[in-house]
Amino acid sequence: MNSPLPMTGVDWTALRNFAALHGQLRISLTPKCNEKCWFCHNEGDVPPPSTHLHRDARPREREMNADDILNVVAVLMDAGLKRVYFTGREPLLSPLARPVLTRLPEHGADATYTLITNGTLIRTHQDWLATTALDKVKVSLHYFSDESLKAIANTRIGIATILDGIEAARETFERVEINTLVQRENEHELHDILDFALTRRMPVQFIELVDTDFNAARKGSAVGAQAIINHLRTLTSDEETELSGVGQGRRIFRVDGIEIDVIHRELGRHHVGQCGTCPVKPQCVEGFWSLRVDHAGGIQPCLLRDDLRMDIRPLLTTPHRIPATVAQHVSAFTEGTL
Ligand SMILES: C[S@@+](CC[C@H](N)C(=O)[O-])C[C@H]1O[C@@H](n2cnc3c(N)ncnc32)[C@H](O)[C@@H]1O
Repeated sequence: MNSPLPMTGVDWTALRNFAALHGQLRISLTPKCNEKCWFCHNEGDVPPPSTHLHRDARPREREMNADDILNVVAVLMDAGLKRVYFTGREPLLSPLARPVLTRLPEHGADATYTLITNGTLIRTHQDWLATTALDKVKVSLHYFSDESLKAIANTRIGIATILDGIEAARETFERVEINTLVQRENEHELHDILDFALTRRMPVQFIELVDTDFNAARKGSAVGAQAIINHLRTLTSDEETELSGVGQGRRIFRVDGIEIDVIHRELGRHHVGQCGTCPVKPQCVEGFWSLRVDHAGGIQPCLLRDDLRMDIRPLLTTPHRIPATVAQHVSAFTEGTL
């Protein structure tokens, strides 16, 4: 793992720019979940409604073990990526969760490890989660009642389990944040979710729907963030707009010192370079803000471009070669020559 990166003949510029603009490394540990959120893009794997409707639309099988994932994380962090997110559908359902998260390599002060979870299994796994080097846990809370939970996530799990999971996370980690996708099904509960978070001094990120083909039928559920922005403006005058970096622009509010972020489509999106001549650029909502690694050994720069998923399985026995290969892929993507 300590062998020098092969520097010759590799154009590192695009990967370094992506890292410098705070691009994320997202590791999807599993395409399985105990919820079936109607909007879930499953980090690029088969989304839940499709698995349900089409029996042959199976998510990818796991091809990487915990050591492979830890190696990929280590070499890509060495290559400059600093914001690492463990996600999936539900990462805590994956047999990889414990062996990966309890053995995360040490990182410098400028890096972070974040777990993104629906919160249902935090209490169950609290003991070993407490031993991990995770810096932050981000819990999805798109609902605040059993009714909206059922309407959004089509599950029999009750809201009490999720709220207790958030309490378990707060007992275990210093930084716990809430992530809420604004939609018609939770419009009436957004103030409750915000109050719940503010009372506990937890930051919240409100996000808007990223529409992909599979959730097009429920496009009417995408209500946009203007109403919650208007409400936040009644609570604070401390508002900034962040347009730099990668991904979508956001409005940052501070209420009693707690940061409330709103990803707002109106602010536009930010591409690394120009994303070259990407044919789906007109439909692209997010820009290129994350390198997505999946449990089947793929790395993909962008949710809308399955065709750009690179197979890194042949490199798993020589992980030091992964960064150069990824750098070349990202360069080709941003130059539009892929
Ligand atoms: C894909 S889930 C994975 C982790 C975990 N199961 C959870 O619920 O947090 C993580 C987050 O991705 C976001 N997400 C998924 N599909 C989305 C979409 N179509 N548009 C916007 N955000 C989406 C949601 O904010 C969701 O909470």
